[in-house]
Amino acid sequence: MSQSRENWGSRIGLILAMAGNAVGLGNFLRFPRQAALNGGGAFMIPYFVALLLLGIPLMWVEWAIGRFGGAHGHGTTPGMFARMWRHPLAKYLGALGIAIPLSFVMYYTYVEGWTLAYACFSAIKHYWGVDTFAEMSRFLAEFQGKADLSQGAQYFSGIGVALLFYCVTLGLNLFVLSHGVAKGIERLAKIALPALFLFALVLVIRVITLGTPDPSHPENSVAAGFAYIWNPDFSMLKNPTVWLAAAGQIFFTLSIGTGSIQTYASYVKRNDDIALTGLSTSATNEFAEVILGGSIAIPVAVAFFGLAETQQIAREGSFDLGFQAMPIIFQKMGALGPLYGTLWFALLFFAGITSSVALAQPVMAFMQDEFRWSRKKAMFFTGSLMAIGGLACVFFLKHGFLDEMDFWAGTFGLVIFALIEVLIFAWAFGIDNGWKEITRGADIKVPRAFKFIIKYVTPVYLLLMLIAWTWQDAVPILLF
Ligand code: PHE
Repeated sequence: MSQSRENWGSRIGLILAMAGNAVGLGNFLRFPRQAALNGGGAFMIPYFVALLLLGIPLMWVEWAIGRFGGAHGHGTTPGMFARMWRHPLAKYLGALGIAIPLSFVMYYTYVEGWTLAYACFSAIKHYWGVDTFAEMSRFLAEFQGKADLSQGAQYFSGIGVALLFYCVTLGLNLFVLSHGVAKGIERLAKIALPALFLFALVLVIRVITLGTPDPSHPENSVAAGFAYIWNPDFSMLKNPTVWLAAAGQIFFTLSIGTGSIQTYASYVKRNDDIALTGLSTSATNEFAEVILGGSIAIPVAVAFFGLAETQQIAREGSFDLGFQAMPIIFQKMGALGPLYGTLWFALLFFAGITSSVALAQPVMAFMQDEFRWSRKKAMFFTGSLMAIGGLACVFFLKHGFLDEMDFWAGTFGLVIFALIEVLIFAWAFGIDNGWKEITRGADIKVPRAFKFIIKYVTPVYLLLMLIAWTWQDAVPILLF
């Protein structure tokens, strides 16, 4: 049965594809904002605790589940869970590992379309002259078709441009998916990942050499920007929301709790290493997040706008920093401004597309493995679902919807799914069997402490998170 399934072409290709899966909009837009809002340097304490006790162990669990499932002909969690836990419920719980990435990919691809559009806008200086925050937010609102055009359109006459870029983005995603795992996803990652690291590096170097762009405001400097992200506000550590935010970021950025890693891992050969390969991709993601992601948007915004305004922008919404503050800043960067703007949005686009194909692949794999559909047929089906969701975003998206979605699908859903999966892995399948799977073919010695962590610590940590969330929501209801 397993002969008919694809495998990754090479180890480096696998690492790049998995790193591409993890490195996404979360690293460059979500992380800096979360860090800045939740105590700066102090945020990194719950962040690294979550990395060690949730991120790394769950990452290994997901790789192990995926490779195990793939060896039995299953590329998605319904089949994988049912193999590990012979209970009629297993496959229905596993269905979450398709539903979550599917709901995710619908809006993720929509935002990815904006990045492609803005890369082109930067290159042709389309937003040059739109240089206040209010105007830039009008620009974005008109682009998204959300502005009230009764007083006339200033920048876009309708939703056509956004729609066009959405369709191109969807088309590119489907083009990659239609070529399969090794020739599609792996090839894309081999180009996109090195390119995005290069772009990020150029931008980081530009940012750190900026100094104080406006000599009449010496307090607005890159150094003050780094201080905003990194100065620890330890009083925040008492706040449970900060711990939840940190764990939520670890989930989002490592792509954990979605079903996507399991599907990618199902294309790894049964006796190939996953322990070291998984660790390498996680390390690559953390470098891209903490070092690169943390050194672009926030420091540059503080240098140009000052601390108070940057804090305000960061509080407003997930995309204000990247799509409103940054375009204003590029206009102040002289002759090379369009180049930096293009690099920034191209970087986001590459980070986005290597993640969106990872979110779409579970649906593809499910159709191919469980219904024996051809790749083409699976691609048309997946593409139609993506289009329905994406077009719903283009036409009906309301303010706040993305933040809601980010919470329900992007945070809460992931934690529930991760809890189910770790219980099935460590308790139903059994930690001894599980441990054999993780360490089979391993090129490093996985510390035995993780056996204990996976069995006890991770499930309890996840349970506590769920209780804290419910309790937080329940408190206002109890009080009023
Ligand atoms: N990790 C990706 C990011 O940081 C998002 C993602 C989540 C991708 C789950 C695939 C699966 O943007």
